[in-house]
Amino acid sequence: LPLLLLVLAAAYLVGSVPFAVVVSRLMGLQDPRSYGSGNPGATNVLRTGNKLAAALTLVGDAAKGWLAVWAVETWGPAHGLGSVALALTALAVFLGHLYPVFLRFKGGKGVATALGVLLAIQPWLALATALTWLVVAVCFRYSSLAALVAALFAPVYYLFGSGIVWYAARPVAAAIAVIGLLLIWRHRGNISRLMDGTEGRIGGKKKDPQ
Ligand code: G3P
Repeated sequence: LPLLLLVLAAAYLVGSVPFAVVVSRLMGLQDPRSYGSGNPGATNVLRTGNKLAAALTLVGDAAKGWLAVWAVETWGPAHGLGSVALALTALAVFLGHLYPVFLRFKGGKGVATALGVLLAIQPWLALATALTWLVVAVCFRYSSLAALVAALFAPVYYLFGSGIVWYAARPVAAAIAVIGLLLIWRHRGNISRLMDGTEGRIGGKKKDPQ
């Protein structure tokens, strides 16, 4: 148990590294919390028009989710950490991104980090979820809508892909579902903007924080 707590604390800290803020600072851009949606995430960084900064944010935030889950997958079993530990690690790194200790617990919405987590769990799952995101994003040009639809589909893909009755898959399936629900909860501002037609489209420019 002490090892598990240590692992979860490490995963939370890794998840807490806000790549939107770090990348923006390193590249001399404005703090993403000061424009657009105010969200420290790749979508909002893209509103500066700097595609490289947005891509680095996406890769960084995804990589930290991937790293935490991959590490427990790789070294966990030899130390008695199984699928429950894996599921909790996925949640810990995701919660780190949402509530980062380094940003006074005001973090992002978790889309990129969730994608990294899925990539470590099953590459095909990440691929299917990313493609779902892409189809919605291309059709409607809303990053948030694409994330919401992808979050709903990810647990379904996982259950069908791993077999609903496979016992070992259950903690991980639960973690994916909880991550999806938290992601949707973090998009509640986007959901109301989508409903009254004021949500910014992908590629739109920055305006005042919403
Ligand atoms: O990456 C989060 C995305 O789904 C929405 O971002 O900045 O439009 O609230 P944003």
